[in-house]
Formats: sequence, structure tokens, C-alpha cells
Amino acid sequence: DPYRSSVTLTVNGTPHRLTLDNRTTLLDALREHLHLTGSKKGCDHGQCGACTCTVNGTRINTCLSLAVMHDGDRIETIEGLGSAQALSPMQQAFVARDGFQCGYCTPGQIQSACAVLEEIRANIPSHVTADLTAPVQITEAEIRERMSGNLCRCGAYANILAAIRDVAEAQA
Ligand code: FES
Ligand code: FES
Repeated sequence: DPYRSSVTLTVNGTPHRLTLDNRTTLLDALREHLHLTGSKKGCDHGQCGACTCTVNGTRINTCLSLAVMHDGDRIETIEGLGSAQALSPMQQAFVARDGFQCGYCTPGQIQSACAVLEEIRANIPSHVTADLTAPVQITEAEIRERMSGNLCRCGAYANILAAIRDVAEAQA
């Protein structure tokens, strides 16, 4: 069948061999084929960030990427970050700061937030830190800029920002 391909996705450390329609997005592979429904489908065309996961350490919108492009890749989803019994520091901070209302955007917000702190640590420039020689500060502007691909229809932005700042300060 020329319209289907086999792909191995290592998701949260576990390899999965799947045979998928070539048009299947990475998001649909995770949600519909691996039943990992933590990653959300908000817009399905790269505008909201609800589907954000990390692939080989870099965050992407999984709705914009075909699963067959990720043969052999390492994918981390919200399910790999923590559990109800053992929340990760970022998840704890979102709870403590009330960083959500409906919660639909939250897995993507948290996946992005963790990646943002890694990006800042790795000195990867954003639009705010366009000067490549300047040290990257964990300022409010820096966090807002780096989180700008994650929309929240409930408008929980102030509390999301507070949660990320808490984790950034705790890790400083
Ligand atoms: Fe992927 Fe909105 S569902 S960006
Ligand atoms: Fe509802 Fe963000 S908490 S969309």
C-alpha cells in the first residue's frame, strides 16, 4: 500500500512501531493510535500550541508535522512529565499558581514552559534576545515572547507566567 508507512516513534522512552496512513499527523498518531490524549488538538493548524510536544529535545506543534517524518525520533508528551501521584515541578507550579481554567491549553503550556527554561539555559535566542552576544535573562518579557505560541482562550496568562517564574527562580 503506497499510502501507508511503518514508523517507529519512541514516546516517553517506549518505542512503538506503527503502520499509518502517510497523512497522519504526529498529533493524531499520539492521540488516536497510541491513545495518549494529553496533547490537545485546539486548531489543528499551528496557531494555538495546545498540541506542543518535544521531539528530540525541541518543542514543536505536533499538528503540523506528519508522523512518518519522525521515524526513530524521541518524543516527549505531557504523560511522560509526571503523574497525578507525582507531579513534576512545572505541573506543581501551575496548580499552586492556578495557571489554568478549563485546562485545555495546559498540557501544551506546560510542555512549552519546560522547553522555554531549557532554551534560556542553552542561550538559544528569541526575538527579545536578538543580540546573540547578550546573556539571556529570565525576564517577564523573555518568558512572554517565548510562550507566545501557546494561546489560552480562558486568559490565564498572568498565572501561567507566575508559575513559570516560580520554577525558573527555584532552578536558578
Ligand atoms: Fe496544533 Fe493548535 S492544535 S497548534
Ligand atoms: Fe482554558 Fe487555557 S485554561 S484555554
